[in-house]
Amino acid sequence: MALSLSFGPFSVHFMVLVLSILNTSIHASDPPLTLDYYSSTCPTVFDIVRKETECAVLSDPRSAALLVRLHFHDCFVQGCDGSVLLDDTVTLKGEKKASPNRHSLKGFDIIDGIKNMVESECPGVVSCADILTIAARDAVILVGGPYWDVPVGRKDSITAGYALAETNIPTANEGLVPIIAKFLYQGLSVTDMVALAGAHTIGVARCENFRDRIYGDFRATSGLNPISASYLSSLRSICPPIHGGENNITAMDNVTPNLFDNSFYHTLLKGEGLLNSDQEMYSSVLGIQTRELVKKYAADPLAFFQQFSDSMVKMGNITNLESFANGEVRKNCRFVNT
Ligand code: HEM
Repeated sequence: MALSLSFGPFSVHFMVLVLSILNTSIHASDPPLTLDYYSSTCPTVFDIVRKETECAVLSDPRSAALLVRLHFHDCFVQGCDGSVLLDDTVTLKGEKKASPNRHSLKGFDIIDGIKNMVESECPGVVSCADILTIAARDAVILVGGPYWDVPVGRKDSITAGYALAETNIPTANEGLVPIIAKFLYQGLSVTDMVALAGAHTIGVARCENFRDRIYGDFRATSGLNPISASYLSSLRSICPPIHGGENNITAMDNVTPNLFDNSFYHTLLKGEGLLNSDQEMYSSVLGIQTRELVKKYAADPLAFFQQFSDSMVKMGNITNLESFANGEVRKNCRFVNT
């Protein structure tokens, strides 16, 4: 696999080590989140979120993917504090136009709808960050994935992190080791990374994110069998080699695109992963541990579901003390309170 490493293997490992040590001091490892945080102030919050998420996913199954990714991009930038939901204003530069998010991150209107319903029941009580976390869990269940309990009690940020969104969020052509480093930096392990990337069992990618892959080593990883050759030519018809069609989309799991199952890992075993970053987990010479995990989740769907649930809780618990000290419960998820 082509790796976009700009440093040697020794410094890579050193960097990973430093980042993982640093991590313990910059993120609260034990955030004050509990399952019953709203039990007296908004006992119906979980029901409201489930009902609204159900409506969104029933009317368009893609909504499930949008919500899960939104939660991921929220948590990787100054913790899960709803910062990704903030619109640009004269005084605040939001994260929505940062390169991993621009033309790509959607589903904000779904969160607005859920928030409105929650506000009408329990005004000023439930944070947008919590709503997003619960909705992501419900979305996964609705498309066939596992259930897990969602600890709550997050606060919404009063700032956004445009620059952090540019640097913290992994991208498709980045290379396996730098991506692992980004997960370690958040306190997430290689196992968390491989399991969480299993979210690519639902949702789509845009041509600009898979062009390098389908005109790169797709042929080499998938072999020359007729089925993968015909899949490759259909991908190429969606995504021309040089310019045009940047926003054309296709499913990352082309077998069961709207079902949360483990078939994404089977795609990787066949060498047919759509994104370079996904295929590298199986095919990179540096991916000894990731390759074993891909094989494990392909062979054992329950192990995947169990690890995905655990890792989603872990990701949802990424926080920073700043948002707890100075955060708020936003009235409107798009703007800080005035
Ligand atoms: C391992 C590193 C990851 C990389 C490099 C990565 C990269 C990407 C890219 C490039 C896309 C397509 C975006 C577009 O073309 O507009 C995408 C979509 C998606 N990602 Fe990831 N991702 C990663 C991990 C994750 C994680 C941890 C989650 C959630 C737990 C996640 C959930 C999703 C979902 C659900 C979609 C589909 C969204 C849609 O249909 O609009 N990804 N990802």
